[in-house]
Amino acid sequence: MTQDELKKMVGDLAATYVKDGMVVGLGTGSTVKFMVDALGRRVAKEGLKIVGVPTSDRTAAQGRKLGIPIKAVDEVDQIDLTIDGADQIDADFQGIKGGGAAHLFEKIVAINSKRNMWIVDESKMAPKLGSFPLPLEVIPYGSQQLFKRLAAKGLHPVFREQAGQRVLTDSKNYVIDLHLGQIDDAFRLAQYLNQQVGIVEHGLFLNVVNTVIVGYADGPKVLQA
Ligand code: A5P
Repeated sequence: MTQDELKKMVGDLAATYVKDGMVVGLGTGSTVKFMVDALGRRVAKEGLKIVGVPTSDRTAAQGRKLGIPIKAVDEVDQIDLTIDGADQIDADFQGIKGGGAAHLFEKIVAINSKRNMWIVDESKMAPKLGSFPLPLEVIPYGSQQLFKRLAAKGLHPVFREQAGQRVLTDSKNYVIDLHLGQIDDAFRLAQYLNQQVGIVEHGLFLNVVNTVIVGYADGPKVLQA
């Protein structure tokens, strides 16, 4: 099975957890794209009635195109279930997100959701976090000074670039990736990052997820955190 087939498998399965009348947080990324496609099919074929709360401009555009009613996070009373991808998940179901530069909106939608589900292919599961670089969304103003402080702390920061240009988030902020190799104490690191002026949000999602669906070649596994 290709990685895309694994992503589609978990995306299709996750879409079956969505019930009529739900307000659904729609994550961002290549795995979630399959899930949103599947939801779009259910809306068209079954007349499934849902409201989608997207976590990025990309997902909002995809949802609208598929006929899924879209509302912003501040336009809904509550979010019943958010389905999102992840970049890495450890043995304790802690996660790194932000590989697609959307972790700020993803975290806001996640913490305002009654339940959170992550959908990943098996390559995302790891005993410890950190081999995937940890994304930080940072305010451009003063970001060079912040970068120097992170480097001095030994956190191996790298500004994320694409085609020679700094990547901008949907909020027009920069992304700095921390190349840590292994994170021994994710909670302590999160506390440090939360205290740094200029970091809008980091990509550590700790004690956030309730259910993880992992795609393996022999089928999906549903894990409760
Ligand atoms: C977006 O910023 C991320 O948090 C994504 O949810 C994560 O990178 C997973 O994306 P893929 O499904 O494309 O790997």
